[in-house]
Amino acid sequence: MQYFLDSADVDIIRTALECWPLDGVTTNPAILARDLPEGQTVAAQLDAIRSLTGSRLLFAQVTSSDTKGMIRDAIKLADFLGDNTSIKIPATPDGFAAMKQLAADGLSITATAVYSTSQALLAAKCGVDYAAPYISHLDNLSLDGPQVAADMAEELRFHGLTQTQILAASFRTAAQVERCIHSGVTAVTVTADMLTTLATHGGTAKECANFDAKWNVRFGKGIAEMI
Ligand code: G3P
Repeated sequence: MQYFLDSADVDIIRTALECWPLDGVTTNPAILARDLPEGQTVAAQLDAIRSLTGSRLLFAQVTSSDTKGMIRDAIKLADFLGDNTSIKIPATPDGFAAMKQLAADGLSITATAVYSTSQALLAAKCGVDYAAPYISHLDNLSLDGPQVAADMAEELRFHGLTQTQILAASFRTAAQVERCIHSGVTAVTVTADMLTTLATHGGTAKECANFDAKWNVRFGKGIAEMI
């Protein structure tokens, strides 16, 4: 099971990598445009994120829309970011042609903006490592995003295309994340706030309050002061 952080904000990334067992960081053009500080260059921001992620995976997306431009973008991104980088390419007809060539050339590729099982299967046949459906966007089309992602994962397993993982993205609720994972999705990318939500449970907080009450009424100081 892989958890990725969906952000290009170096402060959020630094804190999240310290706090959570993350497998890496995912970015896309919208996230970079949102998180890039004024006066900072894209190259410097990506370089800073690469330094923070180290040997963990970093996902960066092409910005061209034609096959030739996508291939050019992907090669430059892969050269710039080095090992442990997956290049995100939208699941468009031009994108599939680029995925096929780049995967054959040995780059790690993620098919992104995947909305159907057909797109996920074609991406897997192109040799991509990940196919990324956008759960909330699917939900907003009344398409039941977690079920679509589960169907994609099941189709890949059924057809033996197991070198490709479904990397579910775009979550608004913990229930969406947990439904995806319970249904066989093996990678998710979420915000730092969603990680905190997933890790927090009222039952745990109640137990801790009970521990504190029972301990402090008897001892009034921490165990580190008593051993
Ligand atoms: O990678 C795609 C993902 O970042 C989209 O998420 O939150 O913009 O719906 P969101």
